[in-house]
Amino acid sequence: MDLMAMNKLTYGLFVLTARMNGKDNGCIINTVQQVTVEPNRITVAVNKANYTHDMICEAKKFNVSILSEKADFEIFKRFGFQSGRNTDKFANWTGYETAPNGISYITQGTNAYLSANVVEQKDLGSHTLFIAEVIDLQVLDAAPSVTYSYYHSHIKPKPQEKQALAEEAKGQSVWRCEICGYEYVGEELPADYICPVCKHPASDFVRVEK
Ligand SMILES: Cc1cc2nc3c(=O)[nH]c(=O)nc-3n(C[C@H](O)[C@H](O)[C@H](O)COP(=O)(O)O)c2cc1C
Repeated sequence: MDLMAMNKLTYGLFVLTARMNGKDNGCIINTVQQVTVEPNRITVAVNKANYTHDMICEAKKFNVSILSEKADFEIFKRFGFQSGRNTDKFANWTGYETAPNGISYITQGTNAYLSANVVEQKDLGSHTLFIAEVIDLQVLDAAPSVTYSYYHSHIKPKPQEKQALAEEAKGQSVWRCEICGYEYVGEELPADYICPVCKHPASDFVRVEK
């Protein structure tokens, strides 16, 4: 058995947004699939540690912004490296608009967005699988959709760029996963936090001084 085979699967990358108690939030995910055409349904798998997960459980609706090759690392940092539990990811930022369902969608580095209503959800242990019906959709740009492999080869910073980013993050509290290096930005790491990349628990994170 060669687990590396799993790395041969291909994925797109998306910002999944939701709104709860008047607050917008979103996270990066790679797990959006169209599963049926009539009705037009998609599935989205979200880690239970994500605040966006809790918001969708509550509101039962969300938007998916489909990231394009124009997306820069700033978008991944904003939506994928910090949690809306302790920050407002939309504060002082103009890269979004509000869809007719009242939820934000991303306009920067995005080629289309979908609005969907949850019709069913399945507890998968670490994640919840949401099955949702697409109720609205718009194409925003002609740039190709980004793939996970394009993100790794063209968008994710190379080691020397990482050093520069570490300098930029000085003064912020960062928790680093000792297993895979994933960094969580926030004063406190939630006790039940699970690394979104390698799935190790909060006990495998160390606070790093920036
Ligand atoms: C490239 C990339 C891909 C990711 N894919 C997923 C994913 O498929 N599912 C998921 O639940 N989290 C995924 N994440 C992690 C979440 O985006 C991240 O934990 C985010 O900070 C959660 O924010 P929230 O707590 O505000 O919802 C990914 C992050 C990155 C950078």
